[in-house]
Amino acid sequence: MAHRVQASIDLKALQHNFSIARSRAKASHIAAIIKANAYGHGLEHSALALNDADLFGVTDVHEALALKNTGISKPILVLQGLIHADELQLIVEHNFELVVHSSSQLTMIDEALSKITIKKPLTFWLKMDTGMGRLGIEPNGFATTYKALLGRPYTGAVNMMTHLANSSIPDSALNLQQLKAFREVEAQLEDESPVTSIPSSSGILSDLPLSCDWARPGIMLYGSSPFNYELEHLRRDKFDLQAVMTLQARIIAIRDLKQGDNVGYCSQYICPKDMRVGIVSIGYADGYPSNAPNDTPVLVAGKHTGTVGRVSMDMLGVDLSEIPEASVGDLATLWGQDLSLDEVAAKTGILSYNLTCSVARRVSFKYL
Ligand SMILES: Cc1ncc(COP(=O)(O)O)c(C=O)c1O
Repeated sequence: MAHRVQASIDLKALQHNFSIARSRAKASHIAAIIKANAYGHGLEHSALALNDADLFGVTDVHEALALKNTGISKPILVLQGLIHADELQLIVEHNFELVVHSSSQLTMIDEALSKITIKKPLTFWLKMDTGMGRLGIEPNGFATTYKALLGRPYTGAVNMMTHLANSSIPDSALNLQQLKAFREVEAQLEDESPVTSIPSSSGILSDLPLSCDWARPGIMLYGSSPFNYELEHLRRDKFDLQAVMTLQARIIAIRDLKQGDNVGYCSQYICPKDMRVGIVSIGYADGYPSNAPNDTPVLVAGKHTGTVGRVSMDMLGVDLSEIPEASVGDLATLWGQDLSLDEVAAKTGILSYNLTCSVARRVSFKYL
């Protein structure tokens, strides 16, 4: 049975984008970031398709367990680390790798692991806050903490990582400041020669000198450029990234409206001329952004047009005046290979990450 709204997930495109990350990263290992249900694309299908990844990054132990339950045998890294001590039992059982970003997490790990028998030593990723101002241990004192963690009986390895706040703004001075702070501590740990990890997608796609052991691409795998859409030379096609998700919905009515007629709630659109308006069966309850302004791009019958009127819970209007061949039952494309998710993100002011993560559970997913 045909669905009202469908998200088609192109797993070949996902694999292609992974190969771009692999070839561009100045790193020998790639941690594919598939947290948040693979940014809304589906955890299990994405993980199976990303068979060339060296490790998978997820947010918390619950996501790690869901991934493990799919039968995946690759290492899994829990990016927020330990949130509650009772998670350690599972972490030990499945040998999940853990980010450690604060001294309170270290204390919790120490206390909990003194009560658990470890069969296999754990791998930790000690995170440094070099200027992101979010998670991480200060550079000052990091080396001491690193050595202390490495010396614990339950520790197998300690990698060192940081996250850049502005790598999507390539000329931001903060990038090099963060890198300098990281490199200084790396030099202090010369004798331990820690495995290092710095860039996410924007760092991988930038020219910044971010060579290290592990890169951590997320959004680029899903075919979105992390850079400002205004910067044409940094759009997804310039990196040969392919759209993974195509979001489509059916036209369920076509109206011939007159100049001055209202379309939808709160008169966000009044027809400036006589118009042919299609009503598409997708709304904010399907994950389409409710703040989309008039003329947010939509593709119908291969032609670019735009929304008219406020997005409703399950519907939105599109201008079909220049697309006479469009008829009820046709699919409208909200984003995909021929209509960039990044263009919709720029028009709505909603991050591409947010758009794909928001696609609702009631939408029918199809894997190609
Ligand atoms: C620590 C860390 N590494 C990597 C990523 C992936 O970032 P992106 O999706 O921008 O590539 C994220 C995403 O939030 C992250 O938090």
